[in-house]
Amino acid sequence: MASYTVGDACRTRRPVINEIRIRLPALSANESVARAVVAAFCAAADPTATELADIKCAVSEAVTNCIVHAYREGTGDILLTARLLQDRLLCIEIRDRGCGIPDLGQAREPLYTTDAAGERSGMGFTVMESFCDGVRVSSTVGKGTTVTLCKRLRGRSTRT
Ligand SMILES: Nc1ncnc2c1ncn2[C@@H]1O[C@H](COP(=O)(O)OP(=O)(O)O)[C@@H](O)[C@H]1O
Ligand SMILES: [Mg+2]
Repeated sequence: MASYTVGDACRTRRPVINEIRIRLPALSANESVARAVVAAFCAAADPTATELADIKCAVSEAVTNCIVHAYREGTGDILLTARLLQDRLLCIEIRDRGCGIPDLGQAREPLYTTDAAGERSGMGFTVMESFCDGVRVSSTVGKGTTVTLCKRLRGRSTRT
């Protein structure tokens, strides 16, 4: 298994306040379902509009990757776990049991894509990394990929 971590938020250990797990078939219709579920889950933590937009965008990129890339040779499920940790740290894990990523360093390079149809921008990992406080990706060829997205939600008292 190969992995990389960007940002320190994924390394934080904190008690879990709330958690959901859902399993979705990797169908394009489920990209919006995943976003909506995550948005509803985080609503309890009262995120700002910007935080919510960032989270939805990052989740959308990770889920789309499962739909477009992970199961190109067939079908499968996406396993999504969302956790709200103490002090409003949100961690979302998106896992597939698809083809895996042979070179993570190359995959996360801006504009790198294996999409031959020219429909993908190659900016998915760049978007996830810029909209989150921490991203961890681990992958094994032939076994699948797990992307963890972590975001610190601002404390209500510091809100302007
Ligand atoms: N879940 C996944 N399973 C297999 N390959 C993936 C997965 N996610 C990303 N990849 C690989 O990493 C590349 C870069 O991903 P990304 O930055 O999202 O760009 P894009 O999806 O536009 O190609 C993809 O083209 C694909 O080869
Ligand atoms: Mg992508």
